[in-house]
Amino acid sequence: MSSIITTKNLIKVYKVGTERVIALNNINLSIEDGEVCCILGTSGSGKSTLLNMLAGLEKPTRGQILIGGTDIVKLNEKKITEFRRKYIGFVFQSYNLMPDLTALENVAMPLTFRGVRKSKRMKMAQQMLMMVGLGKRGKHKPTQMSGGQQQRVGIARAFVARPKIVFADEPTGNLDTRTTLEVMWLMVQMSRMYHQTLVLVTHDQEIAEYADRIITLVDGKIIKDERNPNPKGRDFPITQEMLRSGMEGVSDMIVASAAAAAQAELQATNGLGTQPSDIETGEDIAVGTSPGADLHSSETVPSNETETESKELKI
Ligand SMILES: Nc1ncnc2c1ncn2[C@@H]1O[C@H](COP(=O)(O)OP(=O)(O)OP(=O)(O)O)[C@@H](O)[C@H]1O
Ligand SMILES: [Mg+2]
Repeated sequence: MSSIITTKNLIKVYKVGTERVIALNNINLSIEDGEVCCILGTSGSGKSTLLNMLAGLEKPTRGQILIGGTDIVKLNEKKITEFRRKYIGFVFQSYNLMPDLTALENVAMPLTFRGVRKSKRMKMAQQMLMMVGLGKRGKHKPTQMSGGQQQRVGIARAFVARPKIVFADEPTGNLDTRTTLEVMWLMVQMSRMYHQTLVLVTHDQEIAEYADRIITLVDGKIIKDERNPNPKGRDFPITQEMLRSGMEGVSDMIVASAAAAAQAELQATNGLGTQPSDIETGEDIAVGTSPGADLHSSETVPSNETETESKELKI
């Protein structure tokens, strides 16, 4: 594996009146391409600050952030926006869906920025919605969905354009235990299936255990950086080979597996695993389609863009 994100001597100081808050204190880290990496820490430890820097949403006070060889700190506002649209997906704690758009339109949004034509965008968005078990909710606006459903729309939106990196800041912070497990499972599987790098922020050790690697922050400093030999949700029955072969009902299997994984985990921990799942399975999925195969194809983004991506991003 090669490194996709590297930070060098990253420092962020906020000035509030005469006071200075050192939110990040000399962060040096390197995240591998395809890694599921968790940044763990208590409130105020600098997790969101770090994630926002890595995603190009905020500039550091000092230091470098190399993403695929590009120092994003040096990019101007226009370039960084283009960079984000091309390579980065983001899952927010509070979902951040556009309230006036339907679930389908929200998921299709990143594809608009990539210049994918409308009929293709809608088809891809629908397939993503099916992958997260919301095939029948395409016409719903955010207020017409539960928190867990809205977050699954958020996940579908973050992954639809197959960005190289997906960042997620406390993605399950507003969800109940069962929905948390389903959402985590889906997110981790999506990134593993398509070899996307996932950088996840949480204060919760149990959530962190879905990751291959756990980086612990205290007062803006990395105090621990450890491999997780046995990440949760690793056993996944659906391989890329199955997707490529055009297997029918892949999305059905994904959502059913997410629900089953959540059920098993709840039963194992506190015996609460008997509630009905929030994830819809079975009849929700249009049988006869092959969403995975389509998502996997080079048509997911215009093919010339895919080529540019590998040339520009030295990974
Ligand atoms: N815009 C800002 N202006 C001033 N100080 C800030 C700003 N943003 C964050 N901070 C400070 O930087 C430190 C790190 O904040 P950050 O939001 O990164 O923490 P966090 O680990 O994400 O916490 P939480 O788990 O509560 O979200 C805190 O002390 C916070 O008060
Ligand atoms: Mg935060």
